[in-house]
Amino acid sequence: MHPTTYNAKAYSAASATSRLASTKIKRRDPTDRDVQIEILFCGICHSDLHQVRNEWSGVMPTVYPCVPGHEIVGRVTKVGTAVSKFKPGDLAAVGCMVDSDGTCPECRAGLEQFCPNLTLTYNFPDKHLGGVTYGGYSENIVVDERFVLRVPSNLKLAGAAPLLCAGITTYSPIRRAGVTKDKKVGVVGLGGLGHMAVKFAHAFGAHVVVFTTSPNKKDDALRLGADEIVVSRNADEMKKHTGSFDFILDAVAADHDINAYISQLRRDGNITLVGAPEKPLAVSAFSLIMPRRSLSGSAIGGIAETQEMLDFCGKHNITADVEVIPIQKVNEAYQRLLKSDVKFRFSIDMASLKSE
Ligand SMILES: NC(=O)c1ccc[n+]([C@@H]2O[C@H](COP(=O)([O-])OP(=O)(O)OC[C@H]3O[C@@H](n4cnc5c(N)ncnc54)[C@H](OP(=O)(O)O)[C@@H]3O)[C@@H](O)[C@H]2O)c1
Ligand SMILES: [Zn+2]
Ligand SMILES: [Zn+2]
Repeated sequence: MHPTTYNAKAYSAASATSRLASTKIKRRDPTDRDVQIEILFCGICHSDLHQVRNEWSGVMPTVYPCVPGHEIVGRVTKVGTAVSKFKPGDLAAVGCMVDSDGTCPECRAGLEQFCPNLTLTYNFPDKHLGGVTYGGYSENIVVDERFVLRVPSNLKLAGAAPLLCAGITTYSPIRRAGVTKDKKVGVVGLGGLGHMAVKFAHAFGAHVVVFTTSPNKKDDALRLGADEIVVSRNADEMKKHTGSFDFILDAVAADHDINAYISQLRRDGNITLVGAPEKPLAVSAFSLIMPRRSLSGSAIGGIAETQEMLDFCGKHNITADVEVIPIQKVNEAYQRLLKSDVKFRFSIDMASLKSE
């Protein structure tokens, strides 16, 4: 039986070529285990843009209308009778996932992001209402409490929102790679994800080198915690670090020559892809086999690790550097994202949706 529903304001795209525009969507009335959250800020992840434009059609084709947004912070407005961790008035956050089976080996290992019965926050089959899930470009959202995170009270909310995707997606592989003070770490692409990677790798004490295509981001990179900056379009600068990195995180959203970064690794060094460009990357076998380097991937992080990351950010006062925009500027923001023209994350002030 479907639960009862109510209407919520949102911004959606009607097709891969449409602008995002004001709309109304249905949300379920909170069931026993649900938390209803008034959304205060929602970050704009490049994944929102990929999906709105159906650039991942081979893996997860977009169902329209599409309401993106998976970097959500807000205030709890209502809870179901069985909810124990949240009460109205609490700060709360939601990331890329809203449900999983909770019983499979991945869920039991705290890796809900790999659950075969995972539900992503938007553009995924909605088990409650049919159709697909709708994300955070909306005035509110209703989520099972198992997928609702706590936000440390000292963090500024506009900058905390991007932690829910850009934060966990970089924190998780950096932790997994064992980044500490003796390690040399590269970050490729100083966008939303990349700038969080710099903050985390720096916080763990590593020597951090940023590879950027944007010379105008140099000063910012140093301020964020980078020790050195390489402008990747400058061949001489690229040669300087060849064969010297323990770990590189590649957070580039577009097609690029990954071999140029693989060759920066030392023996047994690892490069992890978190960027998810539309087209396949061409990997040279030789850049991996000599000298025994590895290439891997990583997807967000589990719920427990996301809470760990948020608590770490609370303790060290880490948030994303954001440009706060009203929802009415979202299409312009997408255009600028394509030009790498944001320092370093757009965060939508959802109060702006009230006037729609
Ligand atoms: N694995 C996951 O779980 C996960 C989670 C979230 C996002 N993602 C993916 O990660 C990627 C990055 O997301 P984001 O939100 O951080 O995007 P973003 O803010 O647009 O940052 C991407 C950065 O890539 C660099 N770049 C862009 N075009 C480039 C090109 N042609 N050649 C080389 N570098 C280029 C730019 O940095 P510079 O200006 O410094 O060169 C840009 O700022 C996206 O593909 C997104 O879908 C994956
Ligand atoms: Zn994201
Ligand atoms: Zn599972």
